[in-house]
Parts: sequence; structure tokens; C-alpha cells
Amino acid sequence: MKEKQYVFGEILISEEQLKKRTKEIGKQITEEYKGESILAVCILKGAVLFMTDLIREIDLDVQIDFMSVSSYGASTKSSGVVRILKDLDTAIEGKNVLIIEDIVDSGLTLKYLKDYLMGRNPKSLKICTLLDKPARRSADILADYTGFEVEDQFIVGYGLDYNQMYRNIPYITCLVEK
Ligand code: IMP
Ligand code: MG
Repeated sequence: MKEKQYVFGEILISEEQLKKRTKEIGKQITEEYKGESILAVCILKGAVLFMTDLIREIDLDVQIDFMSVSSYGASTKSSGVVRILKDLDTAIEGKNVLIIEDIVDSGLTLKYLKDYLMGRNPKSLKICTLLDKPARRSADILADYTGFEVEDQFIVGYGLDYNQMYRNIPYITCLVEK
């Protein structure tokens, strides 16, 4: 069978739009956590670009840490079984944890992660996602902060990959079959 060929679709979210929305979310977080400090937990690798831009828009004491998870194993469909490839270096008990994710698709990864981290008794635990693809949601999970909603398309750019490629595209686009 011939392998499918993909090309980039249109620009869905421009650099300017990303910048503007990130600023808005940073401001909202700054206001809502006033007087508190935050531990921003970046979910590798897709959320790296968003997290580094976002924390510069937050005017609070911010610490960062990273987690790496694999939700799919060999299959392309989410199984709901999440493997922790890299856990936090930081103890989160009593801290305001803010999970930073690139995209919520089925929601299974975040649902698992949220329950997993809640077991360590953080002071609070919230989720901030750059993108939300509600059409494909199967887990009962809602982000506290969402950058943009996207359609049921395969998104790449600004951290999001296809086979580890295209993370460095500075805007959000999608892949369409050639
Ligand atoms: P979920 O458990 O189905 O919500 O999986 C979410 C994860 O799958 C995200 O953190 C992404 O790493 C990946 N993912 C889901 N949709 C896309 C997409 O459109 N482009 C790139 N990665 C995606
Ligand atoms: Mg991810």
C-alpha cells in the first residue's frame, strides 16, 4: 500500500494570535493566583514552546518542572493507559500546580495525569492547554485555561509534531492529505 502523503494546510493560528492569546492567559493567571506562587508543569515535548512563552507573561513567583508521558504505545489511538517516561523532580505537596499542555484531544492523558498528581496533595491543581479539540473528547476533563479551540484536524507547529517533525514552525497549521 502506498504511504499517505501530507502537505501543510492553511495557517490556523498566526504568530501574532499566539502571542496575543498567551499574553491574555498570562494576565488572567497572574490575577487569579494573586499573592501565590506557581509550579508550572510542562508536559514534554509539545508544550515546551507554549510554556516558555506563557511563563514570561505571568507576574508571580513561578517555578518550572517537566513530565514526559506516553499515552499511545504502538497504536495511534489513545488507550487511556499512560506511561510516565519522566516524572517530576519537585515535590508538589502544598504547591499550586499548573499543568501546561499543548493540546487536549481525547483527554485521556490529562485525566490520568490529574488523578496521578492529585494523589500527591498539591495545594491546587489546574490545567492550562494551548489547544482544545473537543470533537474527540472521551474523558471527562475540562481545562481551566484554554488558548484556542481547533477542529478535528491533525495540528502541527509551535511545539506540536508529526513524527517528531514541525515543532519549530512558529505558527499553528494542520496536515492535509495530498
Ligand atoms: P489525548 O490523551 O488524546 O488528549 O492526547 C493528547 C496528546 O496527543 C497531546 O498532548 C499531543 O501530544 C497528542 N496530540 C493530540 N492531537 C494532536 C494533534 O492534532 N497534533 C499533534 N499532537 C496531537
Ligand atoms: Mg502532549
